[in-house]
Amino acid sequence: MASGKLDWIDEEINLLKEQGFYKTLKTVGSANDAHFIVNGKEVLNFCSNNYLGFADHPRIKKAAKEAVDKYGVGAGAVRTISGNNIIHEELEKKLAEFKKAEAAILFQSGYCANIATIPVLVGEGDIIFSDELNHASIIDGCRLTKALIVRYKHNDVVDLEKQIKDNSKFRRGLIITDGVFSMDGDIAPLPKIVEVAEKYGLMTMVDDSHGEGVLGSNGRGIVDHFHLHGRVDVELGTLSKAFGVVGGFITGSQKVVDILKQKARPFLFSTSMSLVDTAACIEAVKVLGESDDLVKKLWANTKYFKEGMKELGFDIGKSETPITPVMLKDANLTREFSQALFEEGVLATAIVYPTVAKDMARIRVMPSASHSKDDLDKALAAFGKIGKAMKVIK
Ligand SMILES: Cc1ncc(COP(=O)(O)O)c(C=O)c1O
Repeated sequence: MASGKLDWIDEEINLLKEQGFYKTLKTVGSANDAHFIVNGKEVLNFCSNNYLGFADHPRIKKAAKEAVDKYGVGAGAVRTISGNNIIHEELEKKLAEFKKAEAAILFQSGYCANIATIPVLVGEGDIIFSDELNHASIIDGCRLTKALIVRYKHNDVVDLEKQIKDNSKFRRGLIITDGVFSMDGDIAPLPKIVEVAEKYGLMTMVDDSHGEGVLGSNGRGIVDHFHLHGRVDVELGTLSKAFGVVGGFITGSQKVVDILKQKARPFLFSTSMSLVDTAACIEAVKVLGESDDLVKKLWANTKYFKEGMKELGFDIGKSETPITPVMLKDANLTREFSQALFEEGVLATAIVYPTVAKDMARIRVMPSASHSKDDLDKALAAFGKIGKAMKVIK
């Protein structure tokens, strides 16, 4: 066997380990509920994006089972060949109605929706103004274009306007931002961003992956939260977080959806969403549209948990949503803390570089609507005990 060629991998892996950035996967052996089995042990789940408990919801599971009998499992082809099933179109219609938009288009994931859409909106001679803390899938989508990418300071509309003035020669321009920032939980100042976009004739795109099921009426997301219907050109959603399944989508005007259907490469060159997932998502959208009880419970649990953490003396950043970053800064300390939590029966993952900056390691805690008060109290007690033992709090 040839030796030497792949030695660089050992060097890189060793470096990641030394720096505390090496990831090990834990194995889940049950549904992703508030309590679940991880590495063979029952623990409390405080790190899932399953905000509303839909990943194991009886109605949604039933819809998936029925779809298997009716349609089978896979779509069989890309949508433009023979994979465009009646239920893909039904889900698109339901999503457009739910988001109060003209039209919707499905993609295989939220990540995929970003890398599919951005290169259709802008290309050579164009410009993208992108928040410096945007999600990796937005960054990757931007990199797939030949447009000039200009980063503006996080949530800073004054800097955004300065960047637009400093870079005023372009064919088309796009401002792109996360709606809710996935690692910090703060919300983009979308009304001001839209004002700036309208002033300079720029397109706007918001990634609402962490806004759906959380913000707006019945969890319709950030555009609904700020009453900006019709003023944001492109809204991206994921079906993997509050909707509890998998998949991604774009909502916007009919013409935005039309051009994506013609030109978005993952739509044209990758098999469409599985029919099981599609049927489950249709039911998930129905469940969310019918009642906001779970959204209210999510917010009540979030408030209770955050107040408890503040009383204990933890730095939980500037989050305005359920995403609760427990700022420990040092990567090794963060990993040790997370491991100690696991030993106490709580899974809350360490988030380190490259997901966040090197000196901004944190444990990202995700309260959900499925947690009971007892679950929240147990998690708070575990944080308190370990925080004191590791001298993070007094
Ligand atoms: C802001 C944001 N956009 C996109 C994605 C990707 O979504 P998906 O998991 O559906 O690919 C995520 C998920 O981590 C996210 O947080």
